[in-house]
Amino acid sequence: MRENKQDSEKRENFTSQLGFILVTVSSAVGLGNIWRFSYITGVNGGGAFLLIYMLCVLFVAMPIMIAEFSIGRKGKLSPVGSFKKLAPDKRYWIIPGILSILSPLIIMIYYPVVSGWALGYVFESVFNWGTITSDPSTAFSAFAAAPKSILFTAAALIMTAGVLIGGVTKGIEKSSKILMPILFLLLLILVLRSLTLPGSFEGVKFLFVPDFAKLTLRGVLDALGHSFYSLSLGMGIIITYASYMKKETDLPKATASIITLDTAVALLSGLAIFPAVFALGINPAEGAGLAFVTLPGAFAQIPAGQIFSVTFFLLLFIAALTSMISLMQIPLAFLEEEYKMKKKTALMLITAFLIIAGIPSALSFGPLSDMLIFGNTYFDAADKLVNIILLPITGLLCTLFVIFHLGIKNSKQIFMEGAKNQNSILGKIYPFSVKYIAPIAIVLIMLNGFGLFNLIFN
Ligand code: TRP
Repeated sequence: MRENKQDSEKRENFTSQLGFILVTVSSAVGLGNIWRFSYITGVNGGGAFLLIYMLCVLFVAMPIMIAEFSIGRKGKLSPVGSFKKLAPDKRYWIIPGILSILSPLIIMIYYPVVSGWALGYVFESVFNWGTITSDPSTAFSAFAAAPKSILFTAAALIMTAGVLIGGVTKGIEKSSKILMPILFLLLLILVLRSLTLPGSFEGVKFLFVPDFAKLTLRGVLDALGHSFYSLSLGMGIIITYASYMKKETDLPKATASIITLDTAVALLSGLAIFPAVFALGINPAEGAGLAFVTLPGAFAQIPAGQIFSVTFFLLLFIAALTSMISLMQIPLAFLEEEYKMKKKTALMLITAFLIIAGIPSALSFGPLSDMLIFGNTYFDAADKLVNIILLPITGLLCTLFVIFHLGIKNSKQIFMEGAKNQNSILGKIYPFSVKYIAPIAIVLIMLNGFGLFNLIFN
């Protein structure tokens, strides 16, 4: 992709609208939809949380996504370049651009570790089935603490770089076209298996019948934060992909598809996990271990469970891989554009940096579990720095950029360009929600992150 210069005319484009949608969906669908969604839905009591989550997706996450789409489509460059170009005289608008590059880098310090666990558990399911199922909790702790988790982290990173060598169309777009349908297929198989277990209906009820007594304010704000995380907002991913988009792309239609598919994967994961959890009498509020501890235990109790376990962790790894591809693409595009670095050099540099920076993350579950940064392990510190501080700030700055610099009307117009249906409902709810609902909601997420509501409500 040496033609990928500032010159936007020559910029590589997605080959089709479908390609663009698939790539964006494969960045959005990740550990968040399967591992994180199921465990926080479990912790927050199921149905009512799900309902609130869906409202957050529609009224907070979607307007921010549209704002980012309009910035990327107009700027036609990576986040830093786009902000610079759209606000040449107001240099401070480069801040959200810089944060957009920083956040994926920091996420990539711990995300590959969890991806590495998923990859590792594909192998553990094959070769150490007895160990991971007889005492899943101890087995998982031992696995995460062992030096081999570093090897799996590095393997995950190297595979990601391997796909990116191919460039945007050949690498990312092609891999998404193959991997996303496989992911859906595997997920459907798991849902069928889970739903046909005796007693599984309780799990379906847990997921879909709201019980508002179980919903706390903390749960509402968790839902808000997760809608952000799940759709990969506040990280320049959307800006970057919009910059690679063809002129004729029907964005309202694409946005609707992306949001629907991302939510569908979360719902399907819920349908794969909760019916099994209830059928087997496991506590749905198990927490972050739900996927790695509970599921092997659950799989062990069903016929051909080992095969389903391999399938599940493979699925989780594929979802993680496609997300890592877009996460790594951000700093890559930056080095290529701003420093005119060759793709190979830039990739080697980024991968080496991330492997080294990732080692303490992997070791946070073993030898370095006592090394605390403000009371958090290195792993948790990286996670919190992004999710509590950087992401919401970037998201907020994007909405402010639209409100005060680009103009809401202009932003909406850019979004609607090429849309067949000019009366799209998305276009209708955008102006109000980007101006009022989204910024206020983000401020709430941040206050929640800083623990303010714990002080007031607990
Ligand atoms: N959305 C991803 C998930 O559900 C996580 C994520 C957050 C992400 N921001 C991102 C992935 C940016 C790719 C790019 O797991």
